[in-house]
Amino acid sequence: MGSPRRNGVTAALTECFIDLWQSPEHEVTLIEAYRKTINPCIHCGYCKRIQGCRYDDDFTLIDRALREANLLVVASPVYGLGFPAPLKAVFDRTQRYFEAKFSLGVKNPIENYKPALLLAAYGSTDSRGVAIMQEHLRLAFRLMNASLEHTIAVPNTDRIPVNKETLRSEMTQILKKLEAIYKV
Ligand SMILES: Cc1cc2nc3c(=O)[nH]c(=O)nc-3n(C[C@H](O)[C@H](O)[C@H](O)COP(=O)(O)O)c2cc1C
Repeated sequence: MGSPRRNGVTAALTECFIDLWQSPEHEVTLIEAYRKTINPCIHCGYCKRIQGCRYDDDFTLIDRALREANLLVVASPVYGLGFPAPLKAVFDRTQRYFEAKFSLGVKNPIENYKPALLLAAYGSTDSRGVAIMQEHLRLAFRLMNASLEHTIAVPNTDRIPVNKETLRSEMTQILKKLEAIYKV
């Protein structure tokens, strides 16, 4: 989850997802990027030599989730046509999987495949930010052994309050589809 605001639209999307998905069969782990310490990649070359990262910080939570999860959800506001800085830091830190694969010859640095969902909020009616985020995720997900299957994007959030009922019914449909296709 990549918004600093707990009462914003990204938080509403995240809560809606958790409310619909969490059950005895589906455990949900929420990681709020703004409330964790995830240092930005400094291109030090450590992961080119040793599988892992020189930083011992909260990225370990992301690493564990990527290895254990069978569904991945990225919830984010659009900031400057892209991801807010703490989420960008998360994606840049996945460079360790790139280096594991291409420098260290690890065939599949993250072994379990998972489908993924993007939940996005943006203040304007300019949808380019969501398109850019989708492109970014398609690339980053290749290293995380995930693929972007669906996006729920709420536009115009700076002008129009989010309709939680519409959101809930749209999300219900999408989660049913994901559940049926991927048996997650
Ligand atoms: C730093 C910053 C940059 C933003 N950049 C964009 C942008 O490029 N395009 C856009 O449509 N909205 C932009 N917005 C508006 C947010 O996407 C919008 O307010 C969104 O609802 C914030 O998410 P939240 O409600 O979960 O906090 C920006 C807001 C901030 C604070």
